[in-house]
Amino acid sequence: MALRNIRIMGDKVLEKACRPVDSVTPRIRQLVGDMLETMYDAYGVGLAAPQVGILKRIVVIDTDGEHPHILINPEILETSGEQTGYEGCLSLPGKSGIVTRPDYVRVRAFDLDMQPFELEGEGLLARAICHECDHLDGILYTSKVEGELKNNEELQDEENEEEDGDEE
Ligand code: NI
Repeated sequence: MALRNIRIMGDKVLEKACRPVDSVTPRIRQLVGDMLETMYDAYGVGLAAPQVGILKRIVVIDTDGEHPHILINPEILETSGEQTGYEGCLSLPGKSGIVTRPDYVRVRAFDLDMQPFELEGEGLLARAICHECDHLDGILYTSKVEGELKNNEELQDEENEEEDGDEE
């Protein structure tokens, strides 16, 4: 396995729709392994193939560091509820913005043996599934941000100020 270069916002590859995977070749297995390694190396909770320059419908997600999910040709079947909170993306390092997403998602995808399966997610996992599936259609979370995109350092300062505020 090897680390791949993460494409940064502004790279046109992030704005394109990805093609479905027809069969899992050794190259695809290699890509998935590399995507997981690249995601963990960057302390991300999800990564989509276009973020490493490959226009295929593949995402990897691991929101707790213990349960990697590999989704090939994912299709969201059902969503419910709503959550509003900060979201980030490895293609926009150091930034976050507020995005409203469903609080529950059920997705169908194929595994590395091209067997279909379903995955349900709540909270952060639901958010990650939506965010990564958007990447496959060339959609970045910046198009869904409410208010301004923030630098993570500013956010940290704001949080500290709020904490100080409580004491007044
Ligand atoms: Ni992203």
